[in-house]
Amino acid sequence: MAVSVAVPARIAGFLAAPTPDAWLDEACERIPELLLDHANCELKAASTALGFLYRYPERQALAQRMSRLAREELRHFEQVRSIMDDMQISFERLSASRYAGGLRDAARTEEPLKLLDLLLIGALIEARSCERFAMIAPRLPDKLGRFYGGLLASEARHFEHYIAFARSECGVGEEDIAARLAELKVIEASLVTDPDPEFRFHSGTPSP
Ligand SMILES: [Fe+2]
Ligand SMILES: [Fe+2]
Repeated sequence: MAVSVAVPARIAGFLAAPTPDAWLDEACERIPELLLDHANCELKAASTALGFLYRYPERQALAQRMSRLAREELRHFEQVRSIMDDMQISFERLSASRYAGGLRDAARTEEPLKLLDLLLIGALIEARSCERFAMIAPRLPDKLGRFYGGLLASEARHFEHYIAFARSECGVGEEDIAARLAELKVIEASLVTDPDPEFRFHSGTPSP
């Protein structure tokens, strides 16, 4: 029986554009690559969390949370790997999609705006991951669909942590945060909807 899950309303309302149907169709046809890139994304999510620990060791609340987040993302990585083993999909190196790099290129370089941007970008990536898990779960084979249905709650939680730290850690006013978030949302939406010749977990509309 197909898993029934919905994109949480707060996540759907946060993202500037939904995932295109054409990406969902493509993903169902390319499950081994989806899983392989997903495993990479979990590793990268762990390493992004560790990056905050290295870059801002003096921020104690942030460091505690990011340390936990890194462990949770590594646990997700292990779970994806074991599902891949079950499905006899071998783990290989895969080039990174344009998505995370495209967002990080937009981050400003001066503090505290850099920290603000990195946290907002983290929130966007978690929100998009949550949205894609929810949208694709009902269309996947049972066991994988259930796994994805379970992951989306974690990603929604991670999204909330990133947003909360953007508000509490940077000393930037609510209006400026909203204005910056609006700009980043536009960039994020175009990365996941513009034609994209490469298929990845966060790729755009498939183009030949
Ligand atoms: Fe994760
Ligand atoms: Fe996450």
